Amino acid sequence: MASDTATEKWSSRFGVILAVAGSAVGLGNFLRFPGLAAQYGSGAFMVAYFISLFLIGIPICWAEWTLGRYAGQKGFHSSPGIFHVLIRRQAGKYIGVLGVIIPVVIYMYYVYIEAWCLGYFYYFLTGQLDLGQDVAAYGDFWARFVGANENGLVLGHGQNQVIVFLIIVFALNFIIIYQGIVRGIEFFCKYAMPALVVLALITLARVLTLGTPDPLKPDQNILNGLGYMWNPGDIAASLSNPQLWLAAAGQIFFSLSVGFGVIITYASYLTNEDDVALSGLAASSANEFCEVGLGGMITVPAAFVFLGAAGIVGQGTFGLGFKVLPLVFSKIPVLPWLFGGIFFFLLFLAAITSSLSMLQPGIAFLEEGLGLGRKQSVAILGLLTAIGSLFVVYFSKDLKALDTLDFWVGTFLIFVMGTIIIVIFGWILGTERGWIEAHRGAEMKIPGVFKWIIQYVSPIYLLGIFVLWVLFNVFGWDPSTGEFKPTSYILDLVGPMPDPVARLSVLFILLVMGFFLILIANAGKRWNKIAPPSG
Ligand code: PFF
Repeated sequence: MASDTATEKWSSRFGVILAVAGSAVGLGNFLRFPGLAAQYGSGAFMVAYFISLFLIGIPICWAEWTLGRYAGQKGFHSSPGIFHVLIRRQAGKYIGVLGVIIPVVIYMYYVYIEAWCLGYFYYFLTGQLDLGQDVAAYGDFWARFVGANENGLVLGHGQNQVIVFLIIVFALNFIIIYQGIVRGIEFFCKYAMPALVVLALITLARVLTLGTPDPLKPDQNILNGLGYMWNPGDIAASLSNPQLWLAAAGQIFFSLSVGFGVIITYASYLTNEDDVALSGLAASSANEFCEVGLGGMITVPAAFVFLGAAGIVGQGTFGLGFKVLPLVFSKIPVLPWLFGGIFFFLLFLAAITSSLSMLQPGIAFLEEGLGLGRKQSVAILGLLTAIGSLFVVYFSKDLKALDTLDFWVGTFLIFVMGTIIIVIFGWILGTERGWIEAHRGAEMKIPGVFKWIIQYVSPIYLLGIFVLWVLFNVFGWDPSTGEFKPTSYILDLVGPMPDPVARLSVLFILLVMGFFLILIANAGKRWNKIAPPSG
C-alpha cells in the first residue's frame, strides 16, 4: 500500500530550507554553543569551530542533501532504504539502521528537555519562577522539576508537573508530524522559524541594552559580557588542546543536524530538479546566524552582567539554561517575567522544530519498509518513543539515562554515521558522479576545492577526530603521562562498580537497534523487488 508521505514533495524551496534550518536551529544553538565557546575561550574555539564547519559540516550537509534527493527519486526516504539503493549490497540497508535509531533515540530525551522549556515559559508567565537571588534556589527548583534527585520522582509523589508538559509537547509533535511533510512540518516551520528569530532579536535587544545593571559592580557591564564571550585569549595555547577540537567538531555535527540521518530524509522529498547546493548552504548559514549571531550574543553576556564570570563557569549546558538563565531573567529590571517567558518560548520553538525532524526518518522507514500507512507508522513510532521517554523520565536521578543515551547515541554514533555518509558520497557514489548529482538544478557552483575536501580531507579529519574522541572520552587517555583511565561512561558499564541505569540505557539502545534491524531484514524483501542489490 502506498503511504502518504512516500509520494509527498516539499511545496516550496523556502519551505524546505526553513524545515532543515528548523531541524538545525535548536537547543544546541542557544544553550550548548554559548556554554562550550565560553568554556574553551571563544577565540580559539571559533577557529576550530569554523575549520570544522568547512571541513566536515558543510561537506556532509551537501552530501546528505544530494544523496537524499537522489534516493528520493527512486522512492526511498529513510536511511535503510536510501543506503539500500546507494550501496546496492545486502548489507547496505543494515548500515542505514543508524539513520533511524539516532534520531529516534535522541527524540526520546530531547523531547523531555523541550518539555522543560515549555514548563519554564509557563512558570515565567504565571510568576512562579521568583525564587530569590541565587543560583542554588533555581538549581533546587530545576532538580525537583526534572526529578534529578531520585529515580521515579516525577512519575509520582506529587512532583509531576513536568509530566503534564511532556504530554503536551509529545502530543504536539505527533499531531504535527501526522499532518505530513507539507501540511505538518513545512507549515509549522514556516511560522515557527520567523517567530523564533523575532523573539531572539527582541531578547538580544534587551540584553544588549542592559548596560551596567548594578552600579556597585561596574565591571559587570554588557561590553565586558560580550568580551567574556568573544575575547580571543591565548589562541595558540588553546588550540593545542585536543579536547577543544573535539568539542568544536561535535558541536558542528550536533548543531547542523548532520550525521543523524535527518537531512538525508528531508532532502528525499525534493524533486529531481530542485536545487540542493544553494539550499543546503542557505540552511546551514541560517543555523550559523542563529548560533553565532543570536545564541552567542544572548546567553553568556546576559549571565555575565548579573552574575559575573563566577556564575557561568562550570555550569554546563543544563546549568546555564535552567539554573543560571532563569535567575538572570528574573533580575531584568522591567518586565522580567515577559523577557523570561519570551526566551523560554523561543527555546521551545527551536526545540520543537528540531524534534519534529527526529521523527520523520522513523515514520519514513515504517512506511516504506513495512508498507504501513501514516496512521499506523505514527502510532508505532509514538508508542516506541513514549516507552523510551518514560525510561528517561523514570531514571531521572542525576539524569543518568538521558546522559548515557546522549553520550553513546547523540555523540558517539553521530561521528560514525557522519563518516559513513561522507564515504558513501565520496567513494561509493563517487565524487565525479556525486558532483554532477549535486549540481543538477543547482543555483550555485560549489567551489571545486570541496571535491577534494569531500573525498580526502573530510574522511581523514573525521577519522582523526573520532580516534581522539574515543581515546579521550572513552578510554580516558592522558597524553602527558600516557596513561589510560577509562571514563565514567566505560566504568559505568564494565567497571568494578557498574551503574545499573547506565547499563540498562545501553541495553535499551541495543534493543531499539535490534528491533529496527529485524524490521529492516523484512523490509529488504520488499525492496529487493523494487531495486535488487547487485552483490
Ligand atoms: N540541531 C539540533 C540542535 O542544535 O539543537 C539538535 C538535533 C536536531 C539533533 C535534529 C538531532 C536531530 F536529528
